[in-house]
Amino acid sequence: KLSEEDKVRSPICCMMGHIDTGKTKLLDYITGNVQEGEAGGTTQKMGATYLSARNILEKTMELKSDTKLKVPGLLFIDTPGYEFYTNLRSRGLGLCDFAILVVDIMHGLEPQTIECLNLLRMKNTEFIIALNKVDRLYGWRICENAPILEAMKQQAKDVINEFNMRLNEIINQFKEQGLNSELYYKNKKMGETFSIVPTCAISGEGIPDLLLLLVQLTQKTMVEKLITYVDKVQCTVLEVKVMEGYGTTIDVVLVNGEVHEGGQIVVCGLQGPIVTTIRALLTPHPIKELHVNGNHVHHEVIKAAECINIIAKDLEHVIVGTALHVVGPDDDIEAIKELVMED
Ligand code: GTP
Ligand code: MG
Ligand code: NA
Repeated sequence: KLSEEDKVRSPICCMMGHIDTGKTKLLDYITGNVQEGEAGGTTQKMGATYLSARNILEKTMELKSDTKLKVPGLLFIDTPGYEFYTNLRSRGLGLCDFAILVVDIMHGLEPQTIECLNLLRMKNTEFIIALNKVDRLYGWRICENAPILEAMKQQAKDVINEFNMRLNEIINQFKEQGLNSELYYKNKKMGETFSIVPTCAISGEGIPDLLLLLVQLTQKTMVEKLITYVDKVQCTVLEVKVMEGYGTTIDVVLVNGEVHEGGQIVVCGLQGPIVTTIRALLTPHPIKELHVNGNHVHHEVIKAAECINIIAKDLEHVIVGTALHVVGPDDDIEAIKELVMED
């Protein structure tokens, strides 16, 4: 029997914002992912990255908070900011429990910032505002990975002045959109007033604050709601890709429930439902984790929320964005096959 603690699933956080505000770069910094692949590029699909509770604790240690982590970790969904991808932003947000709205401190609110803001309100999703690229303020002194107040203490008066000027302008822009916002450490009315965390995705200033705030948001509002993961599998296909030695595989985001190696699944294919058996479940190995060979970790079972690479036969024609269904012992396969094709 599972304890209450075991039943808590990892919450999912959506990265949203205008193009080039630094959503992907922030995730790269948070997860220690240094691959240059997409750096500076335009995100064109949803991506998912997992951060374990242990990693979060390490990264927020400097803030010496006694906040306890009651979730196994956090799953981040990255969305594109390019105007064309409204649909992907909406779909990404639909998978998430809360969000980070990223704003470029040098640009303020931009068209897709406002689009995202409206989406967030429509879906009634809690969010934190990351005021990114603080290092672009003229004369900013880099303070690698420092909590934002510590970094601020190191800055010259002119830098602080420019920061305050831009911050106030952005707070006003949000007000024009009907939203109250305030620096998180001055925010006395959480819930009513949205918190702003200044960040730099290159050298990491404010990242500990951002993570701690996410954890606190989780503790305060999510734990009850998250104790549901055993109920029902909710899983979406993000990508179909060929992996050396494995053939065609799929990347999925497991939002709820759990999946097992050897389990039977049904996915939506171009030519109809595909019934197949999970040969292997892989996750990218945690960065800096020692004693792990190769690029992936194998699992017998994976609990939500996670991003998973599924190895199975017949995945060539799976349609991205559709739901994956797990066949339970009492399930009627024909009914599931019909359900799958409704997507
Ligand atoms: P889309 O996915 O296309 O919407 O963009 P994005 O929001 O994911 O932005 P991305 O992470 O691709 O960053 C855009 C550019 O800004 C890249 O060249 C980054 O290196 C740069 N950048 C991101 N964050 C920062 C930051 O904090 N400071 C500075 N100086 N540059 C940054
Ligand atoms: Mg991106
Ligand atoms: Na970009």
